[in-house]
Amino acid sequence: MSLLPEELLNKLEEHAQYFPRKEQAILLCLHEVQEHYGHIPFFALGEVAEVLGLPLNHVENVVSFYDMFDRGEPARHRIRVCVSVVCNLMNSNRVLDAIRELLGLELGQTTKDGRFKLIGVQCIGACSEAPCFMVDNDTYKFESKEKLHEVLSRYT
Ligand code: FES
Repeated sequence: MSLLPEELLNKLEEHAQYFPRKEQAILLCLHEVQEHYGHIPFFALGEVAEVLGLPLNHVENVVSFYDMFDRGEPARHRIRVCVSVVCNLMNSNRVLDAIRELLGLELGQTTKDGRFKLIGVQCIGACSEAPCFMVDNDTYKFESKEKLHEVLSRYT
């Protein structure tokens, strides 16, 4: 019996059936899981592996390889920077540079005090505000390093 909610499991199975080879659906399935839980819980790796008929370590390797996947290491807040096409064209590197300067973080890293984790994500649906980022469930347009500092100071 699956540990995933039925609705999520159905989506994963739909993705698996859509592609000629099930393993081609791996990124799509992992995105679904991350969207559902906000990160990828360990138990879900096994579930994805089972749906796609892949060894668990294959799924683990894919999750480790991509910065955009969040394994759910403890952090009080998650900063998600959109690195998708529109934000990229509008220079999402400015956001990453400012975060690096303010917090010393690279993608996938967590501050030593566990306050923030930095994650690169695909389009968050706010292209008109590009380049943009999220802190937890709040979406922001990047304006300047100073403004970013002010935004981050709201999350303790
Ligand atoms: S491409 Fe960044 S929000 Fe759409």
